[in-house]
Amino acid sequence: MASKLSIIILAAGLGKRMHSSLPKVLHALAGKPLLSHVLDLAKKLSPDQICVVIGHGGERVKEIVNDASLTWVTQEPQLGTGHAVLQAQPYLDQEGSTLILYGDVPLVSLASLEQLINSAQGKTCGILTAVVDDPFGYGRIIRDENTNAISGIVEQKDTNQTQQSIREINTGIMVIPNACLHSWLPKLKDNNAQQEYYLTDIVKMAVGQNVAVVSTQAVHDWEILGVNSRVQLAELERIYQNNYANKLLEKGVMLYDPARIDIRGELRCGTDVEIDVNCIFEGTVILGDHVKVKANSILKDVTVSEKTAILPFSHIEDAKIGANCRIGPYSRIRPETQLTDNVHIGNFVEVKKSQIASGSKVNHLSYIGDTAIGNNVNIGAGTITCNYDGAYKHQTIIEDNVFIGSDTQLVAPVKVSYGSTIGAGSTITKDTPENELTLSRAKQISISGWKRPSKT
Ligand code: UD1
Ligand code: CA
Repeated sequence: MASKLSIIILAAGLGKRMHSSLPKVLHALAGKPLLSHVLDLAKKLSPDQICVVIGHGGERVKEIVNDASLTWVTQEPQLGTGHAVLQAQPYLDQEGSTLILYGDVPLVSLASLEQLINSAQGKTCGILTAVVDDPFGYGRIIRDENTNAISGIVEQKDTNQTQQSIREINTGIMVIPNACLHSWLPKLKDNNAQQEYYLTDIVKMAVGQNVAVVSTQAVHDWEILGVNSRVQLAELERIYQNNYANKLLEKGVMLYDPARIDIRGELRCGTDVEIDVNCIFEGTVILGDHVKVKANSILKDVTVSEKTAILPFSHIEDAKIGANCRIGPYSRIRPETQLTDNVHIGNFVEVKKSQIASGSKVNHLSYIGDTAIGNNVNIGAGTITCNYDGAYKHQTIIEDNVFIGSDTQLVAPVKVSYGSTIGAGSTITKDTPENELTLSRAKQISISGWKRPSKT
């Protein structure tokens, strides 16, 4: 960027129509606050500073965004967009330009902003406008009949009938030279239908002082949409998800239905990845080549290596899964778990903070917590690691080539040594010797002549 750039994000509005105690800009789109979408975008322009104007619920906004690189400006009371920018004026340089963004317009693209900034060249005012089918509620762009240059913006409530039919509207996003802002902001008046200080009135001032006002349009229609209600938020969520799904399809990811995937973070996929319906991806998820994620699975901050299949209804969080593994259906893998290659985790198995090495299997109804499992281990159905004594967590170590019979409890801390076999139904409280059969089981007896009670 040639000249200095400041960005002011307007985020003081109440958001009454959300009917929520949460400040509007904190409502989540794709799992992230609206304001954070705008901030992430603003940062991509590498501005010299970002000011965020807050008001309603401002302290909460500050606390949740928690970003020391920002300049927070409080607007109290909220007397309009011009008044909002006026609060940030003391932080603006004499030189350079300022880009105005809205904290509740989260989908605008970097390309559209760059286009706007480039068109204004640091010297003129630039306005991002849009031509819409239904302009109701928006400020209308007034153009000179002869030159077609922008001569004003009229707010909905101040429009006359002719102006109401104008379909070119102000998106609210604009770039203005700082010198102009310093001179114009203090002169804004509130003599209008809403008795607000309109930022849009600077257009009249620009015309009066022969400062050109240029306009550009967003690359996509949906970029300019704002959030005023939960209905609009839901619409924007669908647009966001649809865009993300299309991006994945274009990169070669096989989505069974692009309308039934939700990505709340970042999803990176290798080649020939298949994703069945109703999967949710949160945080950063990385899927290797030929990975399959079957229906209704939820993955958060997970890396999956090539050719692994995640079968339906699996829930995996903060884990690393190796290659050629088979997970699920109905598996739950909890944080700090690492599976090496060729591992099978089956139905109703919960694994927490454990490492499972190559070729090992936990196929049915088990809890494995705080455990290191070696290579080629078979864990029988219903095996439980008793890792918690009510106060502390303890480790279980299961070495290579161990076979654990069904319905075994391993009371940690305990080690099942190399090649051990554990008889079904055992409660193991002591380390086992290598290559031997260990079992703890009451002797089976039969009582002859015993009669089952019966009703008379
Ligand atoms: C504003 C524009 C209008 C434009 C429309 C696009 C003005 C006067 N009008 O309309 O031309 O078509 O946006 O949506 O600029 N805000 C504050 N403090 C305030 C008032 C607003 O921070 O005192 C923030 C809001 O939180 C919101 C943004 O500014 O993020 C726009 O406010 P909103 O009330 O939605 O815009 P309008 O005045 O309806
Ligand atoms: Ca609005």
